[in-house]
Amino acid sequence: MKAISIQTFGSPDGLAIVDLPVPAPAAGQVLIATEAVGVGGVDIVIRSGALAAYGFKEGHIPGGEVAGTVTAVGDGVDASWIGRRVWGSTGTGGGYVEQAVAPVEQILPLPRDLSAAASVTLGSSGAVAHFGLRHAHFAPGETVLVRGAAGGIGIMAVQLAAHGGAAAVAVTTSSAERGERLRRLGATHVLDRSCDGGEEAPAGYDVIIDVVAGEDMPLFFDRLNPNGRMVAVGAVAGRPPADFGTKIMAAFQKSMSFAAFSAATVTPADLNAVRSEQFAAASRGEIEAVVHELLPLDEAVLAHQKMDAGEVFGRIVLTP
Ligand SMILES: NC(=O)c1ccc[n+]([C@@H]2O[C@H](COP(=O)([O-])OP(=O)(O)OC[C@H]3O[C@@H](n4cnc5c(N)ncnc54)[C@H](OP(=O)(O)O)[C@@H]3O)[C@@H](O)[C@H]2O)c1
Repeated sequence: MKAISIQTFGSPDGLAIVDLPVPAPAAGQVLIATEAVGVGGVDIVIRSGALAAYGFKEGHIPGGEVAGTVTAVGDGVDASWIGRRVWGSTGTGGGYVEQAVAPVEQILPLPRDLSAAASVTLGSSGAVAHFGLRHAHFAPGETVLVRGAAGGIGIMAVQLAAHGGAAAVAVTTSSAERGERLRRLGATHVLDRSCDGGEEAPAGYDVIIDVVAGEDMPLFFDRLNPNGRMVAVGAVAGRPPADFGTKIMAAFQKSMSFAAFSAATVTPADLNAVRSEQFAAASRGEIEAVVHELLPLDEAVLAHQKMDAGEVFGRIVLTP
């Protein structure tokens, strides 16, 4: 089968099409003939080599979520899955392939009205946005800021906060055009990457969902209201400055909180329960899966170039 491998860490040119044997699903796994493969922000970080210290090696097959039809099952898996269309998590890699294996507890049937592309746009990002907001103890009537709102997680956080009764949903983004698209998804205020939203923007926020981190993180932490909560769900701009902890302690008297959230701390059953609700809501048209573009699997290099160039609003989906 055709697969995309990171032959050399660094630029997208290090990705190559390779020929691999079709894997046999191990006990507890299913084999999925892929129709859609999500290109995630973490795939880009892994390809860059930045996570080499965490055990990622050249030769890695990127891709954390796929959708398609189950063609075989391993020992202990109900054979009635065969022939069903599913969404599946492949973890931190293994998705950029024509036939992917996934643990049975990390697959979900696709609703008839939801496309494979929509499912790999929502599957991971929607759950992170949901549990990130929950980790922040978000409640109706609160003001929310989504930092890095133009990506898969941010787009879902905006929609969930708006549907959840936020008093305001501010977003950071790099262009007015993206700002307008985010307004159509529920944003009420558009800020630039340095938190400037003009006089209309709320003076402070009860909740900040931060996909970006990086050097500017303290600037955003300072915009929390007393008792406000900032939850880091990503770090597309890298680590915060070394004295971030000192800045958090300097705000001691405002009882503000900083937390990180990773979906790795949520059980597969709880993640799937939320995904299932979100898939149903998307198939009823209540939330939107924003697919930036469909590209053939062979065009993975182009997909990564577009991600590197910051051109992507929502999710690029590869179609094997
Ligand atoms: N918590 C979890 O369990 C979990 C799970 C999966 C992934 N992740 C993490 O989530 C992140 C990817 O999420 P995603 O796919 O939603 O994001 P993304 O699309 O990679 O980035 C989100 C947005 O951030 C803005 N941005 C990019 N670089 C920036 C910079 N240097 N400074 C300020 N803004 C910048 C861009 O929008 P504008 O150009 O419009 O500003 C971009 O569209 C990764 O860090 C990944 O590791 C976390």
